Amino acid sequence: MKIYAGSDHGGFELKKSLIKRLHELGHQVEDLGTHSLASCDYPDYAHAVAANVIADPGSLGLLICGSGIGISIAANRHHGIRAALCRCGLEAELSRRHNDANVLVMGGRIVGEALAIDMLEKFLGTDFEGGRHNNRIAKIEITQEGQQ
Ligand code: RB5
Repeated sequence: MKIYAGSDHGGFELKKSLIKRLHELGHQVEDLGTHSLASCDYPDYAHAVAANVIADPGSLGLLICGSGIGISIAANRHHGIRAALCRCGLEAELSRRHNDANVLVMGGRIVGEALAIDMLEKFLGTDFEGGRHNNRIAKIEITQEGQQ
């Protein structure tokens, strides 16, 4: 599977560990930055990952900032992106099964490496259930004004 990964400085170390695990699992990863611990702005990486996931159907995204909050808010501004900020394996699994999430988001200062790897593996190992959830997913894209 093709995975686009991005983080700010707050998620840099955890992103490195998760990319290593993704390679071990045989996934193809494109690291869109940041590439150091120097302070940077999380929206830059949220937008880069979101744009790539939208342009590459079937791919998934991985985003990490310090809390996971800012980078998930920014990613979810993109139509077609369903970025799920997860803190446990069950959330990661449900985000795929019920919400067809296409970006997994974590807080690098919130979760430890072992939990992060568990979430990543559950996210990648779970398929969207479809059925009753299809209509709900479609409604996410409709704004208050009724526009797509
Ligand atoms: C950076 O210090 C921090 O604000 C950022 O990583 C993130 O937690 C924002 O939501």
